[in-house]
Amino acid sequence: MDKYIINGGNKTSGSVRIDRAKNSLLPIIAASVAVGEKCFIEDFPHYSDTETMLEIVRAMGGKYRKKNGGVEIDASGLSTGFFPPKLFSKIRASVFMLGAVISRTGYAETVLPGGCNIGARPVDIHIYALNRLGVETKEENGRLVCRCEKMKGADMELPFPSVGATENAVIAASVAEGTTVIKNAAREPEIADVARFLNNCGAKISGAGSPIITIEGVKRLKGTDYLPVPDRIEAGTFLLATVLLGGETEITGCGIQNISAIINKTEHSACKLYSFNDKIYIKAKGMPERIRKIVTAPYPGYPTDLQSQTAAVMSVANGSGVLTETVFPSRFGYASQLKTLGADITVKGNSAYINGVKSLAGGEVYAEDLRGGAGLTLACLKAEGRSVLHGVEHIDRGYDRFEEKLSALGLDIKRVKNQITREL
Ligand code: UD1
Repeated sequence: MDKYIINGGNKTSGSVRIDRAKNSLLPIIAASVAVGEKCFIEDFPHYSDTETMLEIVRAMGGKYRKKNGGVEIDASGLSTGFFPPKLFSKIRASVFMLGAVISRTGYAETVLPGGCNIGARPVDIHIYALNRLGVETKEENGRLVCRCEKMKGADMELPFPSVGATENAVIAASVAEGTTVIKNAAREPEIADVARFLNNCGAKISGAGSPIITIEGVKRLKGTDYLPVPDRIEAGTFLLATVLLGGETEITGCGIQNISAIINKTEHSACKLYSFNDKIYIKAKGMPERIRKIVTAPYPGYPTDLQSQTAAVMSVANGSGVLTETVFPSRFGYASQLKTLGADITVKGNSAYINGVKSLAGGEVYAEDLRGGAGLTLACLKAEGRSVLHGVEHIDRGYDRFEEKLSALGLDIKRVKNQITREL
């Protein structure tokens, strides 16, 4: 397992290009299974989660190949509804593919899904949506078994605007018989993106990105070429890195339209922030102002996926603040590690109380999940002296060459293999 060796205290200087959104690519891979013809996804970055998702498609009889910086997915040969247990348990987004697989084979069987270690992550809303479309679901010996010859459009109201359940339902309803209306749908930009992809394939989806989505099922979908949206969470991570460390960063390939919640909260800490089309320029002193209160919430609220990176900023801000998590209430695994670096952070229930300290000090810390790992990386880059961050494989799930991008901004971060580190 790899780790980062980080010498903190440097400011950012340079330009970083944002990749295509992990949270679009995963459901688009799932949707391409429902399409069942060749789909070409352009400008496809290397995230270990998307690699796992592609391997699941392959293990079930589909094909993919990388060419010209993109990935061609051809799920026409999908031959089973039986999900490979080891791969399925590695990644929670695999559950987003249930509806697509059932639409092709009339059947799906899985162990329960995996994913980042951020508390209990049930799948009841996914099951509710599939049941509404006529899928019979049973739990047998820790496995989920789903059956349906032909899904039928239906009205449904989600008890919570789950991102994955909305995507699962949109994909399945695209090829169901009749009309589906999803109320209390999640509104994340990545949902609108998957709907755009499916509409390019001949689906009839309207309202994606709003709380009510209407889908008129079509008999079949056809393959397409598609360029997914940029990763707003990666852009937010680099924005927060600059607020925390200070310096000047040009963030290209992503505009501010989908990250205004972060901009609103951090703008006063940035000396200057401009944006034009798909570029954001930020210049900051690296002395963050007090952030009194942040409450994460489904889009357009403050993204839970930027919670730990924000905690890193608040840990050295000028004053105290509260960070409340409403999407994944126990997403604070990183807090004890932040304390190791000298942060004054106390977690009570679903809130973290943070008193900004003058400085952090380098130490040895462990990432337990993807975004927690990103937050700890930023904290180590701020901390004075040398830090070692273990668990880099979690970060690889959703950032492509994170350390290379940070180094290109003039920061001192190196990736090393365990055994090599011992020799240093
Ligand atoms: C997606 C994102 C993830 C982000 C999250 C919230 C992808 C690949 N991942 O995850 O990066 O952090 O949205 O913005 O897009 N829940 C249930 N039952 C369900 C489904 C969800 O109780 O059937 C709960 C979850 O445990 C969680 C909350 O609903 O507490 C939100 O989950 P959801 O929106 O489904 O997140 P994901 O789609 O898994």
